[in-house]
Amino acid sequence: MTDRIILVLLSEAGGVGKTTIAVNVAYEWSLRGRSVAIIDLDSNHSLDGFVGLKAEQERQKTSARIFDRDFDGSWPLKSVFNSELISVCQGSRALKDVTESLVSRKRREYVLDKVLKTYPLPHELIILDCRAGFDLMSENALTASTDILIPIDMGVKVRTVSSLVNSIWQETEDLELAPAPRIMGLIPNHYNKGASFHEEFIAALTKISQQLDLKLYPALRSWQYLNNSSILGEPLKMIRSGDPINAIFANLVDDLEKIRENKFNG
Ligand SMILES: Nc1ncnc2c1ncn2[C@@H]1O[C@H](COP(=O)(O)OP(=O)(O)O)[C@@H](O)[C@H]1O
Ligand SMILES: [Mg+2]
Repeated sequence: MTDRIILVLLSEAGGVGKTTIAVNVAYEWSLRGRSVAIIDLDSNHSLDGFVGLKAEQERQKTSARIFDRDFDGSWPLKSVFNSELISVCQGSRALKDVTESLVSRKRREYVLDKVLKTYPLPHELIILDCRAGFDLMSENALTASTDILIPIDMGVKVRTVSSLVNSIWQETEDLELAPAPRIMGLIPNHYNKGASFHEEFIAALTKISQQLDLKLYPALRSWQYLNNSSILGEPLKMIRSGDPINAIFANLVDDLEKIRENKFNG
């Protein structure tokens, strides 16, 4: 089993906080002295703004490059947040064409997995940030992953949560992933304390996560500073080190460290 964690954020809809969580978890991880790479697999390249980078115009310098048949392992990475420990591989529009071209490729769901195995990144954590829903790109991310985190929007019907989880399990079975990636948990986002609908939603989600035997993380509140930080292109902890929301990201990183320990110790 690999000693690195390849975490994929999967969600049913967009705007659920995948990129927000990816960036803040990566930053917290780096503060603990560990290296991390975020690979943007979303053709909307929303990660760029979150990490203070301009959209990369040169396709060769984006994640589209790693799907080329002649990719030679020269990963197009840039370090961000003035830290040598955090690198990102930017996304681009070209990922749309890549996803389309994958259709005619043999073992099309395993392309990213193969690249990551042939040309392994040195980072202790790799975060795959993809689009919502199941297209060939997110299937590639799922196939390459060791662990899965599922952000959940407060607006969805609770039953869509179990159907998403079940389709992930079904996919891992159909793709014969062995070892299958594990779902580390569900994390609700855009929560408003006091909104009765939200309280009911969390109660229903608690029940469902118990039935599915999945960890339910404390909900991320709708939090203006979180939005501000993404606009500023800096993690929340960088702009507000004392913000209580940071504890939720720290909690996720605690669990990632435990996962890492377990991988090392067999
Ligand atoms: N808890 C939150 N409170 C306030 N704004 C948030 C929160 N979570 C995410 N956002 C904002 O919502 C937008 C969508 O989030 P994002 O992480 O890009 O979602 P996704 O990657 O799933 O599409 C971003 O502008 C982000 O700053
Ligand atoms: Mg995103």
